[in-house]
Amino acid sequence: MGDKAILPPRPLKRSRLLIAAAGVIGVAIAVTVPTAPAGAAASTLGAAAAQSGRYFGTAISAGRLGDSQYTTIASREFNMVTAENEMKIDATEPNRGQFNFTNGDRVYNWAVQNGKRVRGHTLAWHGQQPGWMQSLSGSSLRQAMIDHINGVMAHYKGKIYAWDVVNEAFADGNSGGRRDSNLQRTGNDWIEVAFRTARAADPAAKLCYNDYNIDNWTWAKTQGVYNMVRDFKQRGVPIDCVGLQSHFNSGSPYNSNYRTTISSFAALGVDVQITELDIQGASPTTYAAVTNDCLAVPRCAGITVWGVRDQDSWRSGDTPLLFSGGNKKPAYDAVLNALNAANPNPDPTPTPTPTPTPTPTPVPDGCEATITTTNSWQGGFQSTVTVRAGNAPINGWTVRWTWPGGQSISSLWNGQHSVSGSSVTVRNAAYNGSIAAGGSTTFGFTANGTAATPTATCTSP
Ligand code: G3I
Repeated sequence: MGDKAILPPRPLKRSRLLIAAAGVIGVAIAVTVPTAPAGAAASTLGAAAAQSGRYFGTAISAGRLGDSQYTTIASREFNMVTAENEMKIDATEPNRGQFNFTNGDRVYNWAVQNGKRVRGHTLAWHGQQPGWMQSLSGSSLRQAMIDHINGVMAHYKGKIYAWDVVNEAFADGNSGGRRDSNLQRTGNDWIEVAFRTARAADPAAKLCYNDYNIDNWTWAKTQGVYNMVRDFKQRGVPIDCVGLQSHFNSGSPYNSNYRTTISSFAALGVDVQITELDIQGASPTTYAAVTNDCLAVPRCAGITVWGVRDQDSWRSGDTPLLFSGGNKKPAYDAVLNALNAANPNPDPTPTPTPTPTPTPTPVPDGCEATITTTNSWQGGFQSTVTVRAGNAPINGWTVRWTWPGGQSISSLWNGQHSVSGSSVTVRNAAYNGSIAAGGSTTFGFTANGTAATPTATCTSP
């Protein structure tokens, strides 16, 4: 993305907004962020995020690794690293078929030697292409893209937590469609080809689609990416995560529907990673809101800020980061406090012994549902519900149960739920209603209260 003001797209028409809203009924719910744990608060961003099983990362530039103030802060505070430019296409394949990992490895080795994991950024993108790739088109470019993914992923095989396989493929503005680019002109299937190639090249890496201006749930670009991810999940295209870059500024400001965006993507069955966070002016309130929005969604795996100090930022004039020189800014304290206020997960409280699951008895027709507790902590727990079809395939299911002791759902994924008193009703999501005869699917939730496994009923239309 260029360093230009990003104009906000016009709002979606009302009818499209309703459709968009309908897609998240049941997941765009109020979530109670638990109070501070009794134990000592963590004193760094990485350690504080780790309390809830998340990471806190930064972009690292190889050219700054000789700056001791920079490396001292980065080493102390973060536990995930993204190479800011060094693993991009122009850096790793400057000439066709000749790979160069010198600077990528400098960043990778610094990260690993300092105990951090690494996100890979990025394999297929219209930006920062070397000249030879810019001049290609059609099947030649398609093959070059495949070869590039294979070449880079082979070098880092088994070493990368998550790759931004495709970066910034959607258009700004109202279309909700793809951005024009040489890659797009090779055919609309270029993104799924990139993901299938990536899965085969390194099955251990999570595979992400990464973009900017997909943070506001009402924007057409967000809906375009959401529809693509839903389609990929339905058709089995391998995708594990969506990266919300989250470059917030006056043209593309933080909006309180960000939590809905995160939970809606998560409900499709992918992780959400906040991948390039920076906020013009670094408002502590906005930084805390972003952090709390991630903490509220179990599948929001972590946050990466796009640089260490303001002077390291691609938008240094916006002073958008958490450090100024060697000093922590108010936004730093806001983020750290928010992370420390999150409920530890996993918690020292031992997880109760799971109720033995009886061998499923065949259901003559229709479906059955079983609730299993997968984690618990003081004041809350997480469960998985298995929905199993009987002797006939089903197309749509509804699961119901009643809480025995005042429990309440705080977040639910892979289903749409409603609550009436102590009664809970969960209907299938758009993509998991069809189950083959004898097959099963799952949905999950976190809840407040004492862990419980009430008997659930399942009906199918
Ligand atoms: O290293 C050369 C230097 O030798 C040369 O003298 C100088 C002259 O312009 O350029 C230097 O390279 C610059 C490079 O950053 C390293 O600083 C490039 O010009 C400059 O274009 C490049 O900008 C990067 C930008 O991506 C390019 O697209 C930014 O550092 C980087 O933060 C930014 O990151 C992107 C993400 O990859 C994708 N999402 C948006 C994000 C911000 O634009």
